[in-house]
Amino acid sequence: MKNTLNSVLVWVDDRFPLTQLWNDHLAKYYAPKNFNFWYYFGSLALLVLINQIVTGIWLTMNYKPNAELAFASVEYIMRDVNWGWLLRYMHSTGASLFFVVVYLHMFRGVLYGSYKKPRELIWLLGMGIYIVLMAEAFMGYLLPWGQMSYWGAQVIISLFGAIPVIGEELALWIRGDYVVSDATLNRFFALHVIALPLVLLGLVMAHIIALHEVGSNNPDGINIKKNKDENGIPKDGIPFHPYYTVKDLIGVGVFLIIASLIIFFAPEMGGYFLEHANFVPADPLKTPEHIAPLWYFTPFYAILRAVPDKFLGVVAMGLAIVMFVLLPWLDRSPVRSMRYKGIISKVALGLFVVAFLVLCWLGMQAPTPAKTILARVFSIIYFAYFLLMPFYTRMERTKPVPERVTWQ
Ligand code: HEM
Repeated sequence: MKNTLNSVLVWVDDRFPLTQLWNDHLAKYYAPKNFNFWYYFGSLALLVLINQIVTGIWLTMNYKPNAELAFASVEYIMRDVNWGWLLRYMHSTGASLFFVVVYLHMFRGVLYGSYKKPRELIWLLGMGIYIVLMAEAFMGYLLPWGQMSYWGAQVIISLFGAIPVIGEELALWIRGDYVVSDATLNRFFALHVIALPLVLLGLVMAHIIALHEVGSNNPDGINIKKNKDENGIPKDGIPFHPYYTVKDLIGVGVFLIIASLIIFFAPEMGGYFLEHANFVPADPLKTPEHIAPLWYFTPFYAILRAVPDKFLGVVAMGLAIVMFVLLPWLDRSPVRSMRYKGIISKVALGLFVVAFLVLCWLGMQAPTPAKTILARVFSIIYFAYFLLMPFYTRMERTKPVPERVTWQ
């Protein structure tokens, strides 16, 4: 049996670099031995991506992309399709958990300076993934054709109307109609189920290829390739497989427990993962009192609402994302990891996290004068974190970086 398998492998290897790919990316990919908790989220993002694709395929088998039928087809999936409720909740919970995992994954990058040279391209590809993921989630949310699907899309698409000269035409082009309608639903369906997932898969592959070209960063921000043994293997490196495949499996286990608790016991998560208003069919004649996107968009929504002028609000919202793209060039610190940066960087990052979370909360609330002022203050902190970075990272005193990774 073993011999037969071996000869099949030799046959394949003569025609396709299977063993070479396995070695390059797993068995002989030397990753730093000091990966910690924060390194679980890349593999978890992959897991959620696969979950979204698989459950999405099965949902599509019974979903109807038609303004007359869409809402009822989702109810049909929930009530009559065998295991339909599970597929739907795995997909809707997966969408929110995708953002939880990706935000934590990005935070790790910021914490350990993983965006700095030579990993700028990994970061840029990651930002590409993040932006496509936002478009993917936004378009997916229209599909159940509930009140929030409809009015959320109406509000966000109309923002394009604020762009001078071309705005109105652009909004019309996106909707394919003067209001969100069946035409919009059809194109969002096409983009959500095939176009954007293909782009996402391509970007994720490029992201990992770029990572394996330069090698992983680590919590100390040290280049492990500088210290190699006589065989050319980094002294602080261990093969990804089996060491990190086993470590990642523990992350997967814990993640699946948390995901199952949500899916089986609280799939709406009190309205944070599935908004209550979305259990009412879309009604173009009845605007809900309070329109808010899901939690993962609300920091940006809060920044948009904090600016009095609609167009400038849209610009600020766009810039809030562009700031992340620019991180590799804004950070001028001689060290990568937060462990060796100075106190100003640490306080600045702490303030930024608080600002992000407060803006996330504010974006969910109906606006009041006091909340608008709060949103302005925290938007300023948000932008100050990035815009002052070139100065404080250069000014502050850093700690000496050790020669070898630290590891308990
Ligand atoms: C579908 C979404 C994503 C997937 C599947 C994904 C996957 C991965 C994987 C498997 C790794 C290697 C394991 C690890 O370091 O945790 C990784 C590393 C990395 N990712 Fe992502 N990623 C995604 C999104 C992002 C985003 C949005 C960003 C940031 C904008 C990003 C930035 C990075 C960086 C900088 C690294 C290298 C980290 C280091 O070596 O310290 N990724 N990614």
